[in-house]
Amino acid sequence: MPNVERMTVQRVEETGGGRAVSAAISLRGVVKRFGGFTAVDRLDLEVPAGSCLGLLGPNGAGKSTTMKLLTAQARADEGSIRVLGFEVPRESKRARAAMGVVPQQDNLDEELTARENLEVFAHLYRVPRGRRRQAVDDALALAHLTERQRTKVDDLSGGMRRRLLIARGLVHRPALVLLDEPTVGLDPQVRAELWGLIDGLRAGGTTVLMSTHYIEEAERLADECALMSHGRVIARGAPAELVAAYAGERVVEHYGPPDRLVEVERLAHEAGLPTRRTGPSVSVLKAETIPPSLDDLLGPDGVRRAASLEDVFVVLTGERVE
Ligand SMILES: Nc1ncnc2c1ncn2[C@@H]1O[C@H](COP(=O)(O)OP(=O)(O)OP(=O)(O)O)[C@@H](O)[C@H]1O
Ligand SMILES: [Mg+2]
Repeated sequence: MPNVERMTVQRVEETGGGRAVSAAISLRGVVKRFGGFTAVDRLDLEVPAGSCLGLLGPNGAGKSTTMKLLTAQARADEGSIRVLGFEVPRESKRARAAMGVVPQQDNLDEELTARENLEVFAHLYRVPRGRRRQAVDDALALAHLTERQRTKVDDLSGGMRRRLLIARGLVHRPALVLLDEPTVGLDPQVRAELWGLIDGLRAGGTTVLMSTHYIEEAERLADECALMSHGRVIARGAPAELVAAYAGERVVEHYGPPDRLVEVERLAHEAGLPTRRTGPSVSVLKAETIPPSLDDLLGPDGVRRAASLEDVFVVLTGERVE
């Protein structure tokens, strides 16, 4: 990987017009409606400066909308938003100058080369003229696109475009980065490299807000995860804390005929234990608390494994991975 430290940025305390800020992002009672539909519903969310918060949630939970509110691409109907000490949307120009955004939807300029895309952003984000060339070179190296810098975006592969999109969001060395599903469609090798990069950014003091559907990504990178559902945060904590609170230590996975699975669910619920369905199986969470009287029924045909953040996701959002 290129030298991540060099991408390290201004610390949050130095922004916000000299005002001291402890939360890089703060949303209070934020509501966003699209016609009669409420996409973000009285959302409270704080992201401490210098931390990485993973935003998890099913399709349509409101993750991207929340990010768009932070960049003032969308306007909240209610509530207050502060980003790096700036009030959004009133001071959104200044907030935007200090943040890097990697959108879920690729909006690169296809007619321009990889390098030109970065140059345009370096200019837009007011990287001083004398430093622009170096900033673009660094970003290209970061995306492993130095060799392809003269290639038009239209002719890059999907993974290369994704890497360019990320590099573009970092070209001005922002104090805060918003990454909306940053590693979608990347091969495992590049994804792992990007994990290293994101981890390096955070280690250098950059605040990261990242949405992802890859639970492993959140588990590895995020200091804390916020689980979103129907426009609100329904649970938040360090990955290990969330697992301990909602899924316990161990899980017993049961395979068998449908009647047996229904029976397992019934018994578990009677004992107050959460369950999840995964295709042909039912998993009983918090299995370490199964009372001895039920051990017979919940134990013998089950496969034991450690509880995971994915269990938490499924139990709390009701999402079925089938
Ligand atoms: N411009 C818009 N007009 C109307 N509805 C919208 C608009 N943008 C988002 N929505 C709706 O708001 C809800 C939240 O969408 P959002 O894109 O924030 O979800 P998400 O959590 O990012 O989902 P995903 O994981 O699929 O990316 C969805 O029901 C979506 O259809
Ligand atoms: Mg989204």
